[in-house]
Amino acid sequence: MTDPFIVAIDGPAGSGKSSVSKAVARRLGYGFLDTGAAYRALAWHVLDRGAETADEEAVLAAAADFPFGQGLDPDDRRVHVGDVDVTTAIREPRVSGAVSGVARVPAVRAQVNDAFRRIVAEAAYPAVVVEGRDITTVVAPDAPVRILLTAAPEVRAARRAAELDAEDAGAVAAALHRRDATDSAVVDFLTAAEGVEVVDSTDLDFEATIDAVITVIERRAPEA
Ligand code: DC
Repeated sequence: MTDPFIVAIDGPAGSGKSSVSKAVARRLGYGFLDTGAAYRALAWHVLDRGAETADEEAVLAAAADFPFGQGLDPDDRRVHVGDVDVTTAIREPRVSGAVSGVARVPAVRAQVNDAFRRIVAEAAYPAVVVEGRDITTVVAPDAPVRILLTAAPEVRAARRAAELDAEDAGAVAAALHRRDATDSAVVDFLTAAEGVEVVDSTDLDFEATIDAVITVIERRAPEA
């Protein structure tokens, strides 16, 4: 079997990136890697050790002892740190609020990027949809399929508010814009790098967005 190829998908929060990437992987029989989960799991690990992610030394110490486990099955998105199943815990607000602290440390990024490349190289799938912020530019700049999935900020905020069943949509929008600003200072995921195809889901529903991504894959990787 040939090495799996990468379908790299980047985009901001609320673009539908995660659910669309997973659905595309499922439909095409590909693996699926949510790279944000690794940053979230490391943030959880730092907090679990009683430290703060603002403390770079503590983040580096936690990263040096980080038994992270994540599979590629789009129907099994469990994430472990050692024996602990952190799948639910890494989505909690305390982790979302702390994760930028680990994602901004260059040595951490280098370490998790190496881990992502290793996981994909060992994958028992013909291809892996790898979803994140810097996949098209840093993790897999040579991937045959590179997509930036975007949507207008107000549409992203509305989707996130609906997802969270939030009463205060204004607060959700403010939190989303704050996280965009913090995260995009580390990697620019709001503009497409050269050769990266933009899929704008502002006027597309979920199914139409999946179809748009699959159309790009079929065009860019016709042998797939
Ligand atoms: O996509 P997400 O919300 O689960 O990502 C969690 C955090 O990790 C977010 O603050 C951005 C960061 N991240 C990153 O810096 N690079 C990636 N490839 C993926 C996520």
